[in-house]
Amino acid sequence: MRFPVLPVVVFCAAGLFSSTVMANGETIYNSGCVACHGAGIAGAPRVGDKAAWANRIAQGTKIIYEHALKGFQGTAGIMPAKGGFTHLSDEQVKAATDFMIKASK
Ligand code: HEC
Repeated sequence: MRFPVLPVVVFCAAGLFSSTVMANGETIYNSGCVACHGAGIAGAPRVGDKAAWANRIAQGTKIIYEHALKGFQGTAGIMPAKGGFTHLSDEQVKAATDFMIKASK
């Protein structure tokens, strides 16, 4: 039973804790942001839901990045700074945001 579990644990740890080597937006998204943005929990815009993202994308990446990094309260709910994953670097949060935008256009 131990063997099938191990690679999953290693994969998650790599996604969460390695800062530069795996600065892959999709990996970072799947290691954290997906908790809210995967199913639209707590008012979070669901990734892939074009209607929910159209107005957000229209404000421009500068504001979207700022909201993702510093957090913000909108009409839908509260986005915590960096989604609450404060160990992520700004670059990692931006990479995850880029992935979310790309997947929701
Ligand atoms: C605890 C739940 C939660 C987590 C975890 C979370 N978010 Fe969010 N996020 C939200 C909510 C809620 C909103 C919508 C707020 C509103 O518009 O009222 C949001 C909105 C956003 C937006 C849109 C910003 C805008 O200007 O409209 C981006 C980008 C975003 N999140 C990125 C991320 C990233 C990147 C992560 C992971 C590092 C993440 N979120 C993790 C809840 C979460």
